[in-house]
Amino acid sequence: MVEPFAESFKIKMVEPVFRSTREQRTGWIKEARYNIFNLRSEQVYIDLLTDSGTSAMSQQQWAEMMLGDESYAGANSYYKLKQSIEDVFGFEYFLPVHQGRAAENVLFSVLVKEGNIVPGNAHFDTTRGHIEYRRATALDCTIQEAYNTRLIHPFKGNIDTVILQHVLEKYADDIPFIILTLTCNTTGGQPVSMQNMKDVRALADAYSIPLVYDAARFAENAYFIKEREDGYRDRTIPSIVTEMFSYADAITMSSKKDGNVNIGGFIAFREKDWYDKACTYNIMFEGYLTYGGMSGRDMNALACGLSEAIEYDYLDTRIKQTEYLANHLLEQGIPVQQPTGGHAVYIDATRFLTRVPREEFIAQTLAIELYLEAGVRAVEIGTLLADRDPQTGKNRYPALEYLRLAIPRRVYTNNHMDVAAAALVNIFNRREQISSGYRIIREAPIMRHFTVELEPVKAR
Ligand code: F0G
Repeated sequence: MVEPFAESFKIKMVEPVFRSTREQRTGWIKEARYNIFNLRSEQVYIDLLTDSGTSAMSQQQWAEMMLGDESYAGANSYYKLKQSIEDVFGFEYFLPVHQGRAAENVLFSVLVKEGNIVPGNAHFDTTRGHIEYRRATALDCTIQEAYNTRLIHPFKGNIDTVILQHVLEKYADDIPFIILTLTCNTTGGQPVSMQNMKDVRALADAYSIPLVYDAARFAENAYFIKEREDGYRDRTIPSIVTEMFSYADAITMSSKKDGNVNIGGFIAFREKDWYDKACTYNIMFEGYLTYGGMSGRDMNALACGLSEAIEYDYLDTRIKQTEYLANHLLEQGIPVQQPTGGHAVYIDATRFLTRVPREEFIAQTLAIELYLEAGVRAVEIGTLLADRDPQTGKNRYPALEYLRLAIPRRVYTNNHMDVAAAALVNIFNRREQISSGYRIIREAPIMRHFTVELEPVKAR
């Protein structure tokens, strides 16, 4: 018998959410030019746009906020965070930055040169952006199984080491580092196994190439290793995390995810050499070395958030909530990436809305339907996000059209998940009636999804 369990926290402070009518939402989404980023948060009932910077902090974190030291240089909050990073990840050197993409900007300013190739599992958009901006190439070496949503594979974030070896053999001189994103957001919040980390490390050593981790969701990745990988069931989360990071030379971190804070990030290094080089860029782009874009109180909250993120009961609550939503959808035959990832449920929109043509933005069409149905905001990870090919000007069609329902940490109850699930089931039951999508009326040349303006192809 499974022992009954509930959330690993109780609620001390609340924030209202607002219900609305379909009629109101129809007007609001039209005014927003069918771009969910243009909606005001009050127009959204349940916000599953992202798990980034949307966490609820703990009472301990709020207490730490009061103790923040706002000295420009040498603040004790900096040293508190330094100690926490050393304890959790085992890195001696670190630089605070204001968020994950800032960490990429600073580190890649040191490491990435024109013509370079950076292999990894599927790179997150900002990671790819910072590589391509430097006229280098981000090479996706994820295992093929990751792109089949029906296939059950415990570690769909893994790198295909045969492909990686090929790439290293061919381009070794042009590869500044290999990057592993934990968990792999692009393939569905999917974890990387410890074995894969070890294998990638062995290849990195064989070709004398450094290994960098994007650690945004490191704790969720560690939980999956404990639950799914042979030999780790009896290991504690902190000891799994220690082992994971023993294979990396440096990490970039968006603390807005598993740091359980609303803003912040950092870079951590094993060697002083990279740290020394990165210092100049950090001062130029982010701020002085001991605050780098963060306030003292935010560094305090992060120091505390990192240690809370590796508590088993917290992670168990967190991941089981994502699974709860996914299982409700699966029971009704709704196609989702399987097995469920850490921070979000990824709906395979092409298999959901089979009648909408791909050039009419299937996943965006589903996002709009979901908003209209129940005021739930989710995000398209598909053709809109993929932008146009800079050479041909044509839409790039990614392997999958996803609608991502990302779950903020410690924010919503399972009742909110039930509302999202019920709304999707309603849409699924009338999916045959949805045969057209949207066309673009205005778009930016890159990162168009944030500001794109759309209109329905056929009047609704
Ligand atoms: N790396 C990964 C894996 C991410 O998911 C993100 C952000 C970043 C880096 C960049 O971090 O936002 O702090 O600058 N992901 C958010 C999301 C935006 O919604 O998935 P940032």
